[in-house]
Amino acid sequence: MAKTARTVPISQIILDEEIYPRSGVYPKRVSMFAENLRDGFEIDSIDVQIHPEYGDKYRILDGAHRWHAYKEIGATEIPVHIITLDGLNPLLYAAKKAIGPLQLTEEEARTTARRAYENNSRLTSFEIGQAIGRSRQTVDAYIADLRAATNMEIDIKIFRMHRLGFPQDRIAKRMGVNQKTIHNHLGEMPELAFLLNTDLSKGFTVPQVAEKHGWAEPLVWSITLEGKSDLVRFKALNWGLRTWDLWNWNDCDKRFGDDWPGRIPAQMIGHILYYFSDQNDLVFDPMAGGGVVADTCLAFNRKCWSFDMDNRPDTRPEIEPCFWDITNLKWPIKGKTKPDLIIFDPPYFKKQSNNYDFDSISGLSKEKYLEFLKSFFALAHSNAKKSTQMAFINADWRDFQNTPAKNETRVNSILIKSDAQEVLWRFRIVGSTPQPRNL
Ligand SMILES: C[S@@+](CC[C@H](N)C(=O)[O-])C[C@H]1O[C@@H](n2cnc3c(N)ncnc32)[C@H](O)[C@@H]1O
Repeated sequence: MAKTARTVPISQIILDEEIYPRSGVYPKRVSMFAENLRDGFEIDSIDVQIHPEYGDKYRILDGAHRWHAYKEIGATEIPVHIITLDGLNPLLYAAKKAIGPLQLTEEEARTTARRAYENNSRLTSFEIGQAIGRSRQTVDAYIADLRAATNMEIDIKIFRMHRLGFPQDRIAKRMGVNQKTIHNHLGEMPELAFLLNTDLSKGFTVPQVAEKHGWAEPLVWSITLEGKSDLVRFKALNWGLRTWDLWNWNDCDKRFGDDWPGRIPAQMIGHILYYFSDQNDLVFDPMAGGGVVADTCLAFNRKCWSFDMDNRPDTRPEIEPCFWDITNLKWPIKGKTKPDLIIFDPPYFKKQSNNYDFDSISGLSKEKYLEFLKSFFALAHSNAKKSTQMAFINADWRDFQNTPAKNETRVNSILIKSDAQEVLWRFRIVGSTPQPRNL
């Protein structure tokens, strides 16, 4: 932690409620400081840090009453210590400073402890207690409900990754905890599953149970459908099985995956799983987006390893961060385990580039995009088994939804070569040697 003394314009100082541990300002204390200043006494500089959002402002870590006093006497400048916290929690720093001259009230201490824990659930009760001047046991009591909810959240995340076939070391890495912790959490799984099954056996529906326990629906499906065949699963999900090879759906089943640009229907993933994989097989989803493949794999008892450049550890821990870099393509997983099925749903060429990150392959030139596909297929091939299947999902409209096919220009397509050889690859499954089918 570093400290620099300076005098700054009072207009550059902000009282940021996010990191202010008190419920208000005490007027008597402000008047006392103001009187001291008018009488020419020196008072201590206030502690500030550079505001994380507005770089030209400072926010108060300690000295809100003194700052008010300077304003009250009409001062335009104020002496400060600019503090660099080096990772210390600013709310806890402020709380620790506050307990010196004037103890935090019971309510202020409780609120500060809860806010600090909500911001960072890795803080221990001891650390919080030290900052707010309370014992570890008191802090335990302040945050007991928050901690229980966090533990439940952790359990659910671990459960989900475990059901999807993640080895414990990868779960530990993703959750930022050690393997022993994962092992301990996994020990709680049978009991969690038992709780859900009890409610399900009482006749509660999957959405009701999911809501009651705070679980996502796909995970509840994975438990309620345990041991069932794929066909029973189709029926339970209310999806008619298409027994022919042209599949149409009007909409995406909202129970699976997040609202995501280029989201695909879970019903289609269900069909791909049914026709091209077996239960317990490992599915690999290199550009997973909103996670519809992983969610559907839960409902169909497939393992699934998903990756995307978009990293969302809180909501989608099972989608591991991975940037497929065209200049240095690498398979993200080392080890002998190879996928049985790859479900590859890259973003369309250009058409939705504004909806994805700047670096997404959607923004590449046509030549580069095709080069990427070529290199990716070669890499996937060298990391696959002989029996691995690939579902390549591509909507190669030449323009987009609102242009009639006959008005479209070929320049915006990727795989359509010429009018004579026109092929549509929409939702077409291909093996390791792509064989476009004339429709
Ligand atoms: C069409 S979306 C996948 C949608 C997904 N199947 C769903 O239904 O939600 C394609 C995904 O590819 C990801 N992506 C694009 N370029 C990437 C790259 N170079 N490396 C990793 N991910 C990339 C985007 O972030 C996007 O989430």
